[in-house]
Amino acid sequence: MSTDAIVLLKNDHKEILKNFRDFEKAGEKAYAAKGKLVDRIIELLTVHTYIENEVMYPRVRELLPEVEDDVLESYEEHHVADLLVMELALMKPEDERFAAKTTVLIENVRHHIEEEEDEWFPKVRAGLGRRVLQDLGADMLKARKKAPRRPSQPSALKKSIDAVIA
Ligand SMILES: [Fe+2]
Ligand SMILES: [Fe+2]
Repeated sequence: MSTDAIVLLKNDHKEILKNFRDFEKAGEKAYAAKGKLVDRIIELLTVHTYIENEVMYPRVRELLPEVEDDVLESYEEHHVADLLVMELALMKPEDERFAAKTTVLIENVRHHIEEEEDEWFPKVRAGLGRRVLQDLGADMLKARKKAPRRPSQPSALKKSIDAVIA
């Protein structure tokens, strides 16, 4: 099985985007279904952000100084998503602002995924090459095993704080 870091991250993106579409297709009053989808979205984003913050971003920043600005912008985009995710995790699907907040989260994350996939992952692939990307991916698979699944877990909070002040 390939452990190419970019392939692994794109697979995550696909699953995240699929859940976004399912949320958008759910009926206005389908509270139970939307609650479940948002729970799943929160879990997927919490794990994905963790492995990018812990492994991908710092290593890419170190190895490819020319994408530093892309990495820094991405940390900030993660941070905005983290805030929305933390708020959503405390809300009920019936709350007046639940759907609106989810929609804003979806808009933000879609934009972020597009920037990763279209703008700077190609530079990372060209700059690092196959071997390094496979090692990076293997490290991400290890990190995934200890990744937080909810934003309230200390390791998730720590990463979002590091993203602001580190
Ligand atoms: Fe990201
Ligand atoms: Fe990503």
